[in-house]
Amino acid sequence: MLTINKALLWAKNYLKKSGLENAALEAEVLLAFCTKLDRVALYRQNERLLNLEEEENFRQMVKRRGQREPVAYLTGHKEFMSLDFLVNPAVLIPRPETELLVEKALEILNAKALGVGQASSLFEAGRQNSKSQTPKDKILIVDVGTGSCAIAVSIAKHIKYLNKVCIYATEISPAALEVARLNAERHGVAERITFWQGDLLEPLKNQGCEGQVSLITANLPYIPTREIACLEPDVRLYEPRLALNGGKDGLDFYRRLISQGREFLKPGGYLLMEINPAAINQIFGLLNAAGWKFNVFLDLNGKERLIVAGLAV
Ligand SMILES: C[S@@+](CC[C@H](N)C(=O)[O-])C[C@H]1O[C@@H](n2cnc3c(N)ncnc32)[C@H](O)[C@@H]1O
Repeated sequence: MLTINKALLWAKNYLKKSGLENAALEAEVLLAFCTKLDRVALYRQNERLLNLEEEENFRQMVKRRGQREPVAYLTGHKEFMSLDFLVNPAVLIPRPETELLVEKALEILNAKALGVGQASSLFEAGRQNSKSQTPKDKILIVDVGTGSCAIAVSIAKHIKYLNKVCIYATEISPAALEVARLNAERHGVAERITFWQGDLLEPLKNQGCEGQVSLITANLPYIPTREIACLEPDVRLYEPRLALNGGKDGLDFYRRLISQGREFLKPGGYLLMEINPAAINQIFGLLNAAGWKFNVFLDLNGKERLIVAGLAV
């Protein structure tokens, strides 16, 4: 039987030999998961013996990690915007870069709720539509390709005036939608988010949403098909291809969303899209050709990661 200390040492060496950079940290996260201790407790109790079940689970998990299975799929959890999300191989593991999109969405929405900033039209009544199923006095937000629902749930949890908004989340994969629903329930915002299975904004057609949406968020697949084979094994072997494959040039979804978004946004509304920094010039081209105004924001690594686009009022 191994002590916590010895188990960590073994795992660190095993993962290092498998070529993993963050071997020590990953060993701790996996051992914390298997022992149900937090990482501080692991150090405090470093001479504690693992029981047989803990040791067996830990060895299995470390070996699977050595095969490049992502830690988040092994533990079933990933932190995003300081919230704990359930994940499984049906959904992309939420990335820290995507927090930029959520922060910008919250900045726009919270400022508007307080009645400051330039985009006050976010809170003005849109064209009324007799078929509308959304409460007329609500701000309608749509998260397209919601995956684990990390974006929509984070907005719902962090927005200042949740009672003023109505959030729709669309997703093509039924298995991903199951995870999305679990996360919305887990964070107590299931009543605030309506899920739609289907292609981009298609499910919202004939729902009275055209011209009614104040803000669209989208982190859609943007890897060019041929480049998927060059991604890290953690991503290419384990994350859903449906969440990665952006078509021949990686822009399939952007072309379609830029065109559909126009139909659904109300005047003064916003389209927030996470992008592949390598495709920035092509995306500028698409937005310019379609007559959008836009701004680009850099992620923490200084890469062009987010587009905030709007239609002229
Ligand atoms: C890059 S992942 C992002 C997931 C999540 N929004 C996030 O930021 O973690 C893209 C998501 O879009 C979904 N998707 C792919 N094609 C779609 C389509 N045509 N319509 C709606 N969702 C789609 C994928 O299943 C996947 O969940």
